[in-house]
Amino acid sequence: MKVVLDCDPGHDDMVAIILAATHFELLGVTTVGGNAPLWRVTENALRILELLGRQDIPVAAGAAGPLMGVLPREGERVHGVSGLDGAELPRPTRSVVREHAVTFLIETVMRNPGTAVIATGPLTNIALAMRLEPRFARSVARLSIMGGSVTQGNVTPVAEFNAWADPEAAQIVFSSGARLTMCGLDLTRQAAMGPEEIARLRAVGTRTAGVTADLLEYYREASERLTGSRAVPLHDPCAVAALAAPELFEFRFAEAAVETRGAHTRGMTVVDQRHWEAPGADGRPSRPGLVRVATKVDAARLFDLVAEALAACP
Ligand code: RIB
Ligand code: CA
Repeated sequence: MKVVLDCDPGHDDMVAIILAATHFELLGVTTVGGNAPLWRVTENALRILELLGRQDIPVAAGAAGPLMGVLPREGERVHGVSGLDGAELPRPTRSVVREHAVTFLIETVMRNPGTAVIATGPLTNIALAMRLEPRFARSVARLSIMGGSVTQGNVTPVAEFNAWADPEAAQIVFSSGARLTMCGLDLTRQAAMGPEEIARLRAVGTRTAGVTADLLEYYREASERLTGSRAVPLHDPCAVAALAAPELFEFRFAEAAVETRGAHTRGMTVVDQRHWEAPGADGRPSRPGLVRVATKVDAARLFDLVAEALAACP
């Protein structure tokens, strides 16, 4: 499957890039301001691909901030000032392509029928692509996102960071009719890594495995200081694995929308739990407009997938 990954690396975004580069024909990585300012997450994407020896995968920089308002600085608390603190990655030997990420997304999807898009940051680039090219939403074979939550949030009691950072963009995407898979916090919290799981990744033995383990240990410690939990959810790789290894997941369908006005609920993904629907025999929803919500993941097998991908890296 051909894929474009839109992200804001970001420690868990980095693992998403590794999984995507291993499992798919990764046509490009597009970046969006989120965990850190745009220039930093873009530099991080270039450095990650340099580490993987995948300078062949183009990187296109996108939106610096949300459609409305300014980029929040919440990401620094767990990702550090650089957005990827905790290890030194190689300096890039090439730069971004000249195209804006939104143009890159549109042209890549429209020229390569069957291409899927995976988004692990705020949905600003995806929403802009949908507005700029009205055929984009229905041309994307699958749109798998890490974002939202059926229940509790993380940056607020009800809102998850990616949806909260740009609620207007998220609502554009959720109401677009795209074949949307949502990996929200209820799911990603099932894939939390403690020191033991990170040590297992380090034991894979490749240079990429060692650097990734250093980065994840930084991320885990920062998360523990914030939440008190010794295990840190591996959020973004879930959105990649949902397309690469759907057998590890359980999915149900529901109506979902994103709150953009609530004084206390802005950025909340409102999933209608009154009318959950099981997938049809073909795995598709019974009717258009339903979001495929990942509800369960086999975390142990997901971590195996990450270890196998790291073993395939330099
Ligand atoms: O809420 C989790 C999301 O916020 C992940 O994409 C992580 O990278 C952070 O950006
Ligand atoms: Ca992210």
